[in-house]
Amino acid sequence: MSSVIRTASLLALFPLIFLYVIVPALFYFFPHFMQHIFFLHYVRIPFVDYTNLSQHEISSFGRNFYLEESTLNRTKKLSDKPKNSKNPRLGTWHVLPATISTQYMELNQIPTDSEMEALLDKEHHSIIVYFHGNSFDRTTKHRCELYNVLSAMDFHVLAIDYRGYGDSTGHPSEDGLIEDALSIYEYAKQMAPSKNIYIWGHSMGTGVASRFVAELSDIGLPPIGLVLESPFNNLKDAVMNHPFSKPFRKYPFFDEIFVNPLMRSGLSMSSDKHIQRITCPILVLHAQDDHVIPYILGRRLVEAAQSTHRDIQYVEFEAERGFLHKYIHRAKELPDLVTRFFQHCETRSRSKNRTTRTPEEVDTN
Ligand SMILES: *[C@@H]1O[C@H](CO)[C@@H](O)[C@H](O)[C@H]1NC(C)=O
Ligand SMILES: *[C@@H]1O[C@H](CO)[C@@H](O)[C@H](O)[C@H]1NC(C)=O
Ligand SMILES: *[C@@H]1O[C@H](CO)[C@@H](O)[C@H](O)[C@H]1NC(C)=O
Repeated sequence: MSSVIRTASLLALFPLIFLYVIVPALFYFFPHFMQHIFFLHYVRIPFVDYTNLSQHEISSFGRNFYLEESTLNRTKKLSDKPKNSKNPRLGTWHVLPATISTQYMELNQIPTDSEMEALLDKEHHSIIVYFHGNSFDRTTKHRCELYNVLSAMDFHVLAIDYRGYGDSTGHPSEDGLIEDALSIYEYAKQMAPSKNIYIWGHSMGTGVASRFVAELSDIGLPPIGLVLESPFNNLKDAVMNHPFSKPFRKYPFFDEIFVNPLMRSGLSMSSDKHIQRITCPILVLHAQDDHVIPYILGRRLVEAAQSTHRDIQYVEFEAERGFLHKYIHRAKELPDLVTRFFQHCETRSRSKNRTTRTPEEVDTN
């Protein structure tokens, strides 16, 4: 009889044991495995059509292609960095600026792949390289809505799926994602040597963008500007404030069990450190009602940048507007705001040609 009670009480306790003993133990002993809590690349929608962009309501012409090591002539300076792994095949989208797309539509023509590639370096249209957040892939609805906004502003948009995401091969890791950022950026540079290239990161993609742009700044080749949408300051605060970690926040040794093993396994996303070395202008966008990454973390990131006098602008969207974590692109004023920021980037890039280093760039670190 007592053994039945014992078994029953153990069963009743099991969810608690799972939550408070097994999960922490997994984090502690298998940090590489538990990185998957962070990289949600395995959460997939079946039968996604990556090749037909209009299926995903992309309003301009666009094309799907795959970036591979062999399609890239890596520039010497950038590729001096040690390689972590064989470069995977990365699923990529290129969406045309709306006016170019309309010209084709009016002629009843569809641009060929090689025409689209050649268009990257034609006319005045700048290029935006987009790094997405930690779940799903480049076809996700809110991302497609943003590509449409940027295309309507007459920019080219290049969006990749990192290794392991979507139909890209390989497995994600922080260093790997930085390699992938380099791949798409070098592709843009090679195809469009005359163009301004902006980097735009969202959510986890802001961690990728911040570190990548800091590394480009370190070698004196920053992009013209960086936009960080719904960013966080570092992995620890992001984990601590994430809805998934809610049951553990009061756990003793939270850092030792959840954060430090992840960091030792190579995941740190220390944007607050990286942002202090970025030498191009930065625009941070955050919604006050963001329930995934509280806007306080965005503010902390901005403060870190201000501590080394970076060129940074911060725009916060009121909670009543309901933009949450991923709908800031629905703000009516966003195109104006981005246009003004890009003008600032261009002015600054021209003046930098005369004074190669501004005083604030010298006091890095
Ligand atoms: C792509 O999808 C659109 C919208 O669903 C459809 O009209 C079109 O025929 C498709 N194109 C191809 C090449 O399958
Ligand atoms: C890469 O290098 C090869 C050989 O040097 C050259 O033929 C090719 O056009 C280059 N590709 C690009 C995209 O610059
Ligand atoms: C920077 O200056 C050089 C030489 O004075 C000039 O050739 C180049 O076009 C300038 N670049 C920009 C972006 O103004």
